Amino acid sequence: MKRGKTTADPAPPATLFLFGAHGDLVKRLLMPAIYNLARDGLLDPHLHIVGVDHNPVGDAEFAERLKAFIVEQVRAKHPEQADTAIDPAVWGPLAERIGYVTGDFTDDETYQTIARKLQANGTGNAVFYLATSPRFFTEVSQRLNRAGLLYEQPQAYRRVVVEKPFGSDLATAQELNRQLLEVMDERQIYRIDHYLGKETVQNIMVNRFSNGIFEAFWNNHYIDHVQITAAETVGVETRGNFYDQIGALRDMVPNHLFQLLAMVAMEPPAAFGADAVRGEKAKVIGAIRPWSTEEALANSVRAQYRAGEQGMPGYREEQRVDPQSQTETYVALKVMIDNWRWMGVPFYLRTGKRLSVRDTEIAICFKPAPYAQFRDTNVDYIKPNFLHIQIQPDEGMWFDLQAKRPGPALVVDNVKLGFAYKDFFQMQPSTGYETLLYDCFTGDQTLFQRADNIENGWRAVQPFLDAWASNAQVEEYPAGTDGPAGADELLARDGRAWHSLG
Ligand code: BG6
Repeated sequence: MKRGKTTADPAPPATLFLFGAHGDLVKRLLMPAIYNLARDGLLDPHLHIVGVDHNPVGDAEFAERLKAFIVEQVRAKHPEQADTAIDPAVWGPLAERIGYVTGDFTDDETYQTIARKLQANGTGNAVFYLATSPRFFTEVSQRLNRAGLLYEQPQAYRRVVVEKPFGSDLATAQELNRQLLEVMDERQIYRIDHYLGKETVQNIMVNRFSNGIFEAFWNNHYIDHVQITAAETVGVETRGNFYDQIGALRDMVPNHLFQLLAMVAMEPPAAFGADAVRGEKAKVIGAIRPWSTEEALANSVRAQYRAGEQGMPGYREEQRVDPQSQTETYVALKVMIDNWRWMGVPFYLRTGKRLSVRDTEIAICFKPAPYAQFRDTNVDYIKPNFLHIQIQPDEGMWFDLQAKRPGPALVVDNVKLGFAYKDFFQMQPSTGYETLLYDCFTGDQTLFQRADNIENGWRAVQPFLDAWASNAQVEEYPAGTDGPAGADELLARDGRAWHSLG
């Protein structure tokens, strides 16, 4: 994020090494994001991109494959735009700077070739992006270090981007942090959570801290509870093998959902700098109450989708999923934050695959009006006010308010007071990775997770993992619906209900 200016300058020259160059992440998200940055004039003319992977391909062929994939993706969504998906004036100069290193991640020779490439590119700055399976995170970092590639000098920064999953529980995340920090400094590590690349997520901080009105009611005096939802219509697609090992809780909660929670619940940072912002996030996630085993079981629901209507397969029928799998594809949780601002305000979180609609949003429910002066009228029930922060799709924000329906009788209706991004801003197509890559090139770690952010997230979900380890029950929900009945009961027990999806 560029501060103090309305436009951003091109990032300084560097070489971006993409480990796992043939993987989906590079093709689907990183390369389109690099193209978009180039289109917007945000890359230095000397930014080089080098794929690293074991399949042997030449530089030009690698560049061609990336281009073909970008076009293919655009064609899949907007066939009419496929011919104009790539502007030759943008792609031409970029393609000339795309290279490739064929090599095994576990072979020191690969790193010697990388060192030679880096030297030939004439800039000392390097970003090593680990778009690999997590089992390589430590090994690649150690080998980069052994080859002297993590040694920084003036005009030669060395940064390592680590994708999720960052560990699979508290102990493994701590160990991974320890191993990485043995070979580099915290300021060289960029732990990605792609939710932080979403404009709507970044905007939560701006909305809260640049509009004085919110602070007045942003606390347990006025807020009854908070609901955080990440509902997906997709199933596990081709990732059955990976997903079946981890499930919905690990996949979405300590990272994406806690980032949303932190944006809503953190204290105002003293400055808009990486350490101040990440310090506040670490504090609020660190303040999530650790549940006992019984509490963790009572405050969580895990469920798996079964076959739904219109031939939607059940999770256990998906490719590369164990037909007896007990892995959850849906989770709902209740967490409490033990600090002055949030004491007594439950945060309910839910996320699942193959639900009825795609809907990522935060809904803040306010306490009811203190006195119901309409009680002797037709108005016998007044709904609570919600503030909806819609992350995706249809990005925007609105309050649900009650208003009098015009006419002689007193009838109260729901109305919306809000804004939609599309009404105010022209947004260029983006993948969400543009800001994150740009920030990495310019050395801004605000939107990346610090070691303590990651560990606090795992510490907060560990009680659920531990409780489930000895009680593997998983509820069912039909694919294409709003989720399991248990999730409704979780809130009903507290006299509350989820807002409807979508
Ligand atoms: C990824 C998860 O991190 O986030 C996926 O591994 C999930 O399972 C995805 O589908 C959701 O991201 P988004 O941006 O589509 O909400």
